[in-house]
Amino acid sequence: MTEDAAGIPATRKTSRERAFNRSTNCNTLLMNLTTQYGRLTLKNPFVAGSSGLTDSVDSLVELERAGAAAVVLKSLFEEEILNDMKLQLGTMSSSGFVYPETLDFYKYYDGPKESASSYLDLIQKAKAKLSIPVIASINCMDAENWTYFPKQVEQAGADALELNIFNLPSDMNKSPLENEQVYFEIIRKVQSQVKLPLFLKISYYASSLAAFIKELSETGIDGLVLFNRFYNPDIDIDSLELTSGAILSNPQDIYQSLRWVAIMADRVPCSLIGSTGIHNANGAIKQILAGATAVQITSTLYKNGIPYLTQIINQFETWMQSKNYHQLSDFRGKLSQKNSENPAVYARTQFMHYYRNFPKEL
Ligand SMILES: Cc1cc2nc3c(=O)[nH]c(=O)nc-3n(C[C@H](O)[C@H](O)[C@H](O)COP(=O)(O)O)c2cc1C
Repeated sequence: MTEDAAGIPATRKTSRERAFNRSTNCNTLLMNLTTQYGRLTLKNPFVAGSSGLTDSVDSLVELERAGAAAVVLKSLFEEEILNDMKLQLGTMSSSGFVYPETLDFYKYYDGPKESASSYLDLIQKAKAKLSIPVIASINCMDAENWTYFPKQVEQAGADALELNIFNLPSDMNKSPLENEQVYFEIIRKVQSQVKLPLFLKISYYASSLAAFIKELSETGIDGLVLFNRFYNPDIDIDSLELTSGAILSNPQDIYQSLRWVAIMADRVPCSLIGSTGIHNANGAIKQILAGATAVQITSTLYKNGIPYLTQIINQFETWMQSKNYHQLSDFRGKLSQKNSENPAVYARTQFMHYYRNFPKEL
């Protein structure tokens, strides 16, 4: 079967894509924004990241209407799954199950007590209403006890599962190997339960990041989301109390992800998805040029409202048109480390030229 540059068999092309093929001689070209997101084919590279904007059917519908190609549901915490299991077993007790990191969550949580079952309900309702892929999300720290749940996620109809593994390597008694081994245990256990496309959203806290990303990519997962953005504590110097750092990202927060997408692009056998600090079309374009197959966006939708996504997609298309690009493969990875004319730039962390010549007065 013949495939186009995005890897889509000719027989599975939509009417929009066929129109694009027919119109290549016209002045106004219909862009083909389709992309592979692991085993999922998306109509464009814009995915709504997991957040409070993806926890109800109404806002999911709004995201689809604004142009999102897929949605990642608000994460269910591993502890919620365990809690639900305990409720079902009639032995409700949270002690021993809850990590210090999520104690606060439980203190202020006033949602349904059976959160895991409500989550399955959300998946089913979202699937009934949306035509774009619905990706479930689980926030986890280890591979204990909860890994039966992805089977239920699969049965509820989710198109894929994203695991948000949060593990700040702050325990001085744990070796790098111990810290990172848990990722592979989780993947192994989940893969033994389900055939769902599996994505991992990770952080950049790893002892040898490139090797870690490569090893993860070789486990058979569909994609890696680079990177998660963590809650950051701050200090109030007047009240001398700990406070919360900014919850929403800024466009300047893109650089960490951009660098690592560029370094790893076309060197791993799974999709790389850019995440954090992508606030506009420019951010998304940079990520695709670096080699991402798609991007996840969240903060910009909080700041500018969900309909802003339509504007981002239109500006993305306008840029493609201005460069005479017709499909993502025309420019995806053009500026990855592997393809760029100056690959050393991505490896430089102390760039003498820029630091030395920086003006003393701005
Ligand atoms: C209010 C809020 C809630 C979030 N909730 C989740 C969550 O439940 N699970 C998750 O994996 N990420 C969650 N995130 C992180 C986002 O999915 C995303 O990774 C992060 O915000 C970086 O992307 P951005 O710069 O586009 O915001 C949340 C982010 C925000 C701002």
